[in-house]
Amino acid sequence: MTLTSTTAVIAASPPVGGRLLDLPPSGTMAIGAVVRGLRSEGVNVISLGGGMAEPDAPWLRDPIQFPADRNVGSDPAGEADLRAALAAKLGRDLGLAYDPATEIVVTTGGKQAVLPILLSVIEPGDEVLVLDPCWVTYAPAVQLAGGVARCVPMRYDGGFRLDADALAARVTSKTRAMILNSPHNPTGRVFTTEELVAASSVACANNLWVLSDESFEKFVFDGHRHLSIAALDGMRDRTAVIQSFSKGFALPGARVGYLAAPEPLCRSVTRFNEHVTTCVSPLMQSVALAALKDEAEWSDLLLAHYREKRDVAHEALARVPGLRFTPAEGGFYAFVDITAHGISSKEFTARLLETARVAVTAGTAFGDGGEGYVRINLVGPISDIQEGLRRMHEALA
Ligand SMILES: Cc1ncc(COP(=O)(O)O)c(C=O)c1O
Repeated sequence: MTLTSTTAVIAASPPVGGRLLDLPPSGTMAIGAVVRGLRSEGVNVISLGGGMAEPDAPWLRDPIQFPADRNVGSDPAGEADLRAALAAKLGRDLGLAYDPATEIVVTTGGKQAVLPILLSVIEPGDEVLVLDPCWVTYAPAVQLAGGVARCVPMRYDGGFRLDADALAARVTSKTRAMILNSPHNPTGRVFTTEELVAASSVACANNLWVLSDESFEKFVFDGHRHLSIAALDGMRDRTAVIQSFSKGFALPGARVGYLAAPEPLCRSVTRFNEHVTTCVSPLMQSVALAALKDEAEWSDLLLAHYREKRDVAHEALARVPGLRFTPAEGGFYAFVDITAHGISSKEFTARLLETARVAVTAGTAFGDGGEGYVRINLVGPISDIQEGLRRMHEALA
């Protein structure tokens, strides 16, 4: 038998549709790729764009966390023991009761919670309010879910503010949700009770869902306090709280996050997991569970390290000509105003990489509202932060 066809053979691949490639690339991942490329050529680059958390998480080093009976695909909502521990944690931290059987879903990092929540609460053409600036994933996730992201500028008055009037002004008959994030990446703001109450009024008045990304909940400084909008009056049953082991437990490689939300929303997200991920690796869920057991001591230790890094960075940045910043209230970033240098954020980051071999992220990676800023990541070793900022000082002097 000959394997020939009567129709003409087309050598090229069939087309690849544009839905995914239409999404903008992640600005934070792009800087990581540039750093890896330069390092592979032997260039000595200091990366303050991202980095390995320091101190690193102890639980991944312990082989007893990898029992063989977890080498299976299991519950798409997450392991029962981990969900029970998470419900206890949310009760302790937020004062909110979630039923571990029906109101918590473990996801592949906090990132993987965002898309299925949106797919659950919006229809094609619906609108979602996202802050500008904000973390790189929200607007693309809205787009992928078939919605339209409406950017809501944060108000600047000596620091970026969550502006309820600006939120309200962008609500239309198609608005279904808003995405908030506190402690806020990239600005380092920790939203106050007043800001969150005002935002919650907009959500209640317009019957909106709120995605409350609290991935940095562990990192709050100088007497600021993390408050979940879910804990405010009328908010629990219209809020999906998103948290993660990546930041607070220094476990970004474990890829374990979770959401807490009313049962129908959790059921919907679980259906997504059933068909898209099966479940988060049960091995990594047991690592997350071990981490939770050490939460109290670990959180204090990590917070002390990150406070020190933030202070070292602030001290060094204050001496660099032409930079201005508001001290970060939370998170592990410095968001620095570079407008005195008279060039765009993108140009600034390119020149810094070229001349000082220091990688930082242009503020515009987080939206138009980030123009005039760069974000400096302080997750890595203090020696890298010191050397990176020393080089920056030299290059800008
Ligand atoms: C605000 C915010 N939310 C969520 C995430 C997601 O983290 P992960 O998917 O590792 O939990 C990040 C990561 O940088 C982030 O900055």
